[in-house]
Amino acid sequence: MIYARTKPAIPFKNTYLGFKPCLFWYIKKNASDVLAFFSMFYTHFRLLMFINCNVMANKSVLSQNFVGVIDSGVGGLTILQKLQEQYPNCNYVYLADSVYCPYGTKPFEQIFARVCKLVEFLQRNGALAVVLACNTASIFAGKLREKFSLPIYDVIAPTCKVVAAMTRTKRVALLATNATVKSGAYSERLNNCGVTVVLFPCSSFVPFVENNLIDTADCEEVIAASLGELPHCNVDTVILGCTHFPVLKNKIAPYVNGAKIIECCTDFQPFFSSIEKPAKTLFFTTGVRKTANLASRWYGKIQFEHVDI
Ligand code: DGL
Repeated sequence: MIYARTKPAIPFKNTYLGFKPCLFWYIKKNASDVLAFFSMFYTHFRLLMFINCNVMANKSVLSQNFVGVIDSGVGGLTILQKLQEQYPNCNYVYLADSVYCPYGTKPFEQIFARVCKLVEFLQRNGALAVVLACNTASIFAGKLREKFSLPIYDVIAPTCKVVAAMTRTKRVALLATNATVKSGAYSERLNNCGVTVVLFPCSSFVPFVENNLIDTADCEEVIAASLGELPHCNVDTVILGCTHFPVLKNKIAPYVNGAKIIECCTDFQPFFSSIEKPAKTLFFTTGVRKTANLASRWYGKIQFEHVDI
C-alpha cells in the first residue's frame, strides 16, 4: 500500500545520533511556527510572572492591607485618587473591567454577573475589602454584601448622604449611566429625604473617556445634545453619578447654570492594623493594556497589566 507523503521525510528520524541534526532540520523547516511558539510562551510567561510576583507573592504584603478598587474602566481612578489622598498608607489593587465596558448600557443581570466575577477574583487574591468605584456596580451593593463575606463599599449611598445634606432647594440633577438612572438607586434614596431628582441618562459620555477622546468635537457635541435641558432645570446641585464624569467636569460645567457640582464619594475607612510602607498600588485591566494606559493619562503615568477574568 502506498500512502501519499504530505511532508518530506525527517532525516535521521530513528537514530539517537540523528537527534541534533533532526532538531535543526525541524527548526529550519518550521521557522515561523517555532518563532510563534516561543513568542506565545514568552507572553504567557511574562503575564504569569507578573501576576505571581505582584499579586500572589505580594500576598504576604498585600494581604495585610490590600483594598480592591473596581470599575468598568478607568473612571474609578477618580475614586482611587481620593482614597490615595485620604489613606496614603493603604495598598490598592485597581481593577478595570475594560473588556466589558461600558456597563451602563448592559442588562442588569450581565452587570451583576461581571461584578461578582471581579469581587471573587480580588477575594481569591487576598483583598480584605472591595470599593465599588463605579455607580453602575454600586446598584448591586446590597446583593454583593449578601453574597460575599468581605466588606464592600459603594459610592451611591455615601454620595446621596452628602447631597441630601447639601441641597438647599431640595432639587438636584443626576447625570449617570442609563443603568444607574433606570435602577432608581439615587432617586429612591434622595426622594426619601424629600429631594426631587431630575434625571439625565448619559451613558454616551463613557466611551469618550475610555478611548482618550475627551478633547474632540464629537465629545463636545454629545455633551451639548445630552445636557441641553440642564441649565433650565432649576437645580442647586448636579451629581456626577458616574465615576467617569469628573474627567469631563470642565466640559459639563458650562451647563450647570451656577449649581454646585458634586462628585461621588465612598465611606471606606481602613480597618487594618498593620500598614506596610511604602504603600503599593497595582493596576489591572481585563482589556487592552495600552488603551487603558492612554485613557488614564489624566490620572498620571500608569502601567496597567492585562488579566483574564
Ligand atoms: N464608571 C461607571 C459608573 O460610575 C460606569 C461606566 C460604564 O461602564 O457605563 O457608573
